[in-house]
Amino acid sequence: MTDRPASPGPVACVIGWPVKHSRSPVIHRFWLRQYGLPGDYVIHPVAPEEITGFLAGFADGPFVGCNVTVPHKEAAFAAVDEVEAAGRAIGAINTIWREGDRLVATSTDGIGFLANLDEGAPGWDQAAGPAVVLGAGGAARAVLWALAERGFAPIHVVNRTRDRAEALAARFGSAIRPAGWDALPDLLGRARVLVNATSLGMEGQPPLDLDLTGLPEGCVVTDIVYVPLETGLLAAARRRGLRTVDGLGMLLHQAAPGFEHWFGRKPEVTPALRAAVLRDLGVG
Ligand code: ATR
Repeated sequence: MTDRPASPGPVACVIGWPVKHSRSPVIHRFWLRQYGLPGDYVIHPVAPEEITGFLAGFADGPFVGCNVTVPHKEAAFAAVDEVEAAGRAIGAINTIWREGDRLVATSTDGIGFLANLDEGAPGWDQAAGPAVVLGAGGAARAVLWALAERGFAPIHVVNRTRDRAEALAARFGSAIRPAGWDALPDLLGRARVLVNATSLGMEGQPPLDLDLTGLPEGCVVTDIVYVPLETGLLAAARRRGLRTVDGLGMLLHQAAPGFEHWFGRKPEVTPALRAAVLRDLGVG
């Protein structure tokens, strides 16, 4: 069952299956309230066998747009009329909006990642050089796009399953260098930025145990995991005196482009929004 919209005006939603744990309503409802805008953002479960029909009928439905989460990212990519460049490069979409009678989509995860680092570690990309990314899943794809956008090279992709890292090299080109965990001590010694894009260190998952001794002084360390907010990786980097950026800001910033498309106002990521989402997560 879809949540009932709380007020008249444009309504956007998040589609997925299951989707009830999505934090997106907290973020968008916070902004709607903050700016005094009419409208709402609701959770709308769509079963896998219903996704094609749901998107085919979108123009006649009640929603101005939606976020897309698992398992619909591929089906939605194929079903919309246009995918913007970032979505095509990343190979996934998470945000859909209407332009006239057309459905347009993109992935905002990469720009969310960049905005989070720009805010949390200003100047982090000024001396773009080698980067190390742990993981080669969907989140890693957005991170690689983002780092390549800012000129980082080479980007070493370290993943348990080597084939997945190789596939990313084929997608993103020669700046991407697949590597195994055994190469890390050497790679970390030259890293300007270190990103955890695996699920390691997340609550309920195995820890991410890395020796950060070799990281250069200027290296910035960030994690896409935000529960806990300070992961073991970030705590170790902070103890070493390195600049760290937690993963919550990526979640908040990736929501902003959708809000602007649907509700017509560019929203801000503020400490009050962060606090509201942390309360909802029961973290912090
Ligand atoms: P997401 O879309 O969030 O990136 P994913 O596609 O399932 O999720 O990717 C999870 C990432 O965490 C992958 O890089 C995965 O490594 P594999 O490709 O080898 O599966 C990594 N990961 C998850 N659990 C891991 C573990 N116990 N040890 C090492 N890497 C792990």
